[in-house]
Amino acid sequence: MLTTISRLRDHVGQRVTLQGWVANRRNSKGITFLILRDGTGFCQCVVEASQVAAACFELAEHIGLESSCRLSGLVVRDERQIGGVEVRVEELQLIGSSHDYPIAKKEHGPDFLLDHRHLWLRSQRQWAIMRIRNAVIYSLHRFFQQQGFVQMDAPIFTANAVEGTSTLFETDYYGTPAYLSQSGQLYGEAMAMAMGKIYTFGPTFRAEKSKTRRHLSEFWMIEPEMAFYDLDQNMDLIEAMLQFVLAAVLEECMNEFYILNRDVGILQRSAQARFPRLTYEEAVELLTGRAAVNGTTTLELLEADLQAVRKRKAAVLQEIEERNQKLASGTLRKGEANYYRAAIDRLKNELKDLEEDEVNIPQWLASAKHFRFGNDFGGSDETVLTRLFDVPIMVYNWPHEVKAFYLKRTADGRWAKGVDVLAPEGYGEIVGGGERETDIDLLIEKIHEHKLPMQAFEWYLDLRRYGSVPHSGFGLGLERLLAWLCKLPHVREAIPFPRMYGRLTP
Ligand code: 4AD
Ligand code: MG
Repeated sequence: MLTTISRLRDHVGQRVTLQGWVANRRNSKGITFLILRDGTGFCQCVVEASQVAAACFELAEHIGLESSCRLSGLVVRDERQIGGVEVRVEELQLIGSSHDYPIAKKEHGPDFLLDHRHLWLRSQRQWAIMRIRNAVIYSLHRFFQQQGFVQMDAPIFTANAVEGTSTLFETDYYGTPAYLSQSGQLYGEAMAMAMGKIYTFGPTFRAEKSKTRRHLSEFWMIEPEMAFYDLDQNMDLIEAMLQFVLAAVLEECMNEFYILNRDVGILQRSAQARFPRLTYEEAVELLTGRAAVNGTTTLELLEADLQAVRKRKAAVLQEIEERNQKLASGTLRKGEANYYRAAIDRLKNELKDLEEDEVNIPQWLASAKHFRFGNDFGGSDETVLTRLFDVPIMVYNWPHEVKAFYLKRTADGRWAKGVDVLAPEGYGEIVGGGERETDIDLLIEKIHEHKLPMQAFEWYLDLRRYGSVPHSGFGLGLERLLAWLCKLPHVREAIPFPRMYGRLTP
């Protein structure tokens, strides 16, 4: 019976047929272990010379990595295996051969892997990330649909900037310049006045000429917009949405988190706890070490982190040294030597990260200490601030000078009613949003101040001319959220084919 790896548990003791690709092969005398993957999962399939035809065993022994095949065999329970089962192969048939698969098991650099993204997606780790991405997207749609939001599609070609003119991708639109959308928000606001509560979920584009681990040139954003919502209701909704998504992935993706080696403790806590809400003023007090949380300041925590990094670095250096000496002594058997070499590779990778931290932390500390009140937070400021918390935090009421033109000001005119959600573990901003300005004169003033072309915003100003209401919304960066959930070193692994500064292919 033809089935999939995901359903094998229902077929223990039965004979099944699977179709997939060979993710790994290990030969031993008279027995070959294949790891088969079929998109739904990974499974060990055992081929024994004594149990199959000679030609079949011959094929199994030599089958190339990533060859596609069809196999039949008996499903047996084996709790040591990932899915809790393995298959005792009786027949094996090649579908498409594969030789010299470029992504072998040894460590590859990020550029090599990105150049082979079309193949890299097959690896177990990337498979797990993409499954979680799928679960997150589906849960977001469920959340908003259950709450009565109407999904809308905003245009990609636009005539105006939303989030500042410095990151616009310009293109030619029948002889006039057009820009790839930075955000669907302004169109979302128009639709909210027609539907009440809407959300867009689409690709957005930012010409970010920087290579940080948080920036893509093309990323996916979910942007709800709600008529008659103020900033507090907006924050309540953000929290409810994130907790819904967290609960969903914790329910559906434990196998994937296990593959990623992700400690989900912080996700479990975040799914339950309220997210602390701080004003910008309060956040700056914490950032600069003038205020503490539970008796600890950011500066103390980072100092302690730095000491821990130095201690670990010394230990890693020593272990590398010891292992090298063992290797040089020539007393190790071949298997042991390989194991030692792999361990050294791993330690060297860790060392690279530690050395980076050793340089970064003092810089973060310095810039946090000298943070100028009134500035926007940089990436490192977010990292320092969130070090104090083990759930996401929401920072609201920002200096209006550093925020987008469309945000409403507080009654005293001092603050913009924006909110950023900052994820813990160094991830920083995953959501940006706020309450929208309803006063048409203040909006016009801001459009001038930001040197935006008034004409392109006439239609937007109509929303204030005809039945304006208080309204709010936000944008959740899908890849930023995923990077945090999966604890990825870079957002580029959170999207199938990343577009970022210096990369357009594959
Ligand atoms: O904070 P941003 O720029 O806000 C907006 O675009 C608003 N118009 C959203 C709204 O209120 N409807 O972007 C929102 C989120 C950020 O918090 C971040 O998660 C993500 O989009 N983001 C990026 N993700 C990856 N690469 C980039 N270059 C990103 N820029 C923003
Ligand atoms: Mg932002």
